[in-house]
Amino acid sequence: MTTAQIPEQAIEFFYLIATALFVLSLKWLSAPATARRGVWAGEIGMVLAIGATLLHRGIVDYTWIAIALVVGAIIGIPLGLVHMTAVPQRTALSHAFGALCVSLVGTAEFYQRTPHVPRFMMAVLSMEVILGSLTFTGSLMAAGKLQEVLPQRPITYKGQNIVNISLLAIAVAVAVYLVMHPGETRLFPLIIGIPLVFGVLMIVPIGGADMPTVISLLNSYAGLSAAAMGFVLDSKLLIIAGALDGSSGFVLSVIMSKAMNRSFTNVLFGAFGQVQPTAAGAIEARTVRTATAEEAAAILGAANSVVVVPGYGMAVAQAQHKVREFYDALTKRGVDVKFGIHPVAGRMPGHMNVLLAEADIPYDRLLDMDAINPELPQTDVALVIGANDVTNPAARSDKSSPIYGMPILDVDKARTVMVIKRSMSPGFAGIDNELYYLDKTLMLFGDAKTFVGDIVRQLAGEGLGSVAGV
Ligand code: TAP
Repeated sequence: MTTAQIPEQAIEFFYLIATALFVLSLKWLSAPATARRGVWAGEIGMVLAIGATLLHRGIVDYTWIAIALVVGAIIGIPLGLVHMTAVPQRTALSHAFGALCVSLVGTAEFYQRTPHVPRFMMAVLSMEVILGSLTFTGSLMAAGKLQEVLPQRPITYKGQNIVNISLLAIAVAVAVYLVMHPGETRLFPLIIGIPLVFGVLMIVPIGGADMPTVISLLNSYAGLSAAAMGFVLDSKLLIIAGALDGSSGFVLSVIMSKAMNRSFTNVLFGAFGQVQPTAAGAIEARTVRTATAEEAAAILGAANSVVVVPGYGMAVAQAQHKVREFYDALTKRGVDVKFGIHPVAGRMPGHMNVLLAEADIPYDRLLDMDAINPELPQTDVALVIGANDVTNPAARSDKSSPIYGMPILDVDKARTVMVIKRSMSPGFAGIDNELYYLDKTLMLFGDAKTFVGDIVRQLAGEGLGSVAGV
């Protein structure tokens, strides 16, 4: 297969459009109403970028590229078909592949150019290989922890941080030496090997609960390594796309850390996310008030205002379409229904927004935490569907709680609270929830999809509006 002859300016023009689409994509992705457009812009930008690259004159033969495309598609298509709750680990795998690719390209460039590697080139090449290698193993570890093929609990030992920081420092020192003496080819494998080990050790002490934040940070490293690769390959597109990826991943990690009231250092070194044995033990001894779907429907049907708080359980149960039916049934009765969205509800940023948008729930009914919290004390019923940690009042009051300081949705301030979940099991942080033991709380035990469906059926039945409620 031979290459097409396309003028260089035409390729640069396609790159420019792709770059603009990437910027617009990030902008549009930041609001639920424009998020779909954002996805399309990103996809079209990427197709343009890849397409234009394939027209490059430097390519002398397409055979290997075609083989790589087929192999990539065979691996990539099944990977893309995972359930939405598995998207964080799938994203981690994508970062791993991208980072491996960056590291391999950097290695190939080094051995092709050595011993005549200019200092600046050697500096960016080292950055590319170090970041690419540590992101590769770090992302594989993160995916393994989230998929639970590796233990989720943090594994810590004495002097761990010193070991990790020393390893990274050695890799950086070798890179600096290589910048000064690029001919020292035999040292190059060290800036691949040490970061590969560092990537594993970096993730070992981090608990499963922090993995989504860490994945976002790894995303940022992958972006920075791609930007460094852009300097090596003299590609403006890669530099810009990598920088966008690097900075947006970093900003997202900061937003997620803030939403959990955690500092970066605490996420990276805090060994958070262990199941609290005392809390689990305490669960057995206490009693809670329960209600049936019929009783819940009677109260909901008589309410003036209802705030629905969805969480991870709604995603697992795929209950969003039933929740839409629930919204329709109550709205038809004149009940004011809103949704309170916590920034880290579920297992990935925007998880609840995506699911509720999929069910066509109007965007103006989705209120973020800061907007809904002042309304909760005047709300008749707060209906929690498969959410747990993001509603736990211990975050406000219990200084010993691992989630202390995390902003929560103040559902306990509503007049009546209902919680749909299957059991008294804790959420991701592994701790008990005081909310369930309040006098005003009714536990609705069952699968979210089934229970919401039962409530909808009850609401459709006769005479519910006349039952005294809240
Ligand atoms: P969780 O605290 O994890 O609680 C989810 C609850 O859903 C569980 O208690 C579970 O109880 C219930 N559940 C599971 N399957 C269900 C089903 N089929 N039907 C009904 N209920 C079901 O979820 P959350 O409140 O959304 O909080 C998210 C957690 O993830 C937080 O700790 C947050 O810090 C962490 N996290 C999230 C992110 C992002 S970006 N979203 C990032 C980092 C960390 P049962 O087993 O009793 O049913």
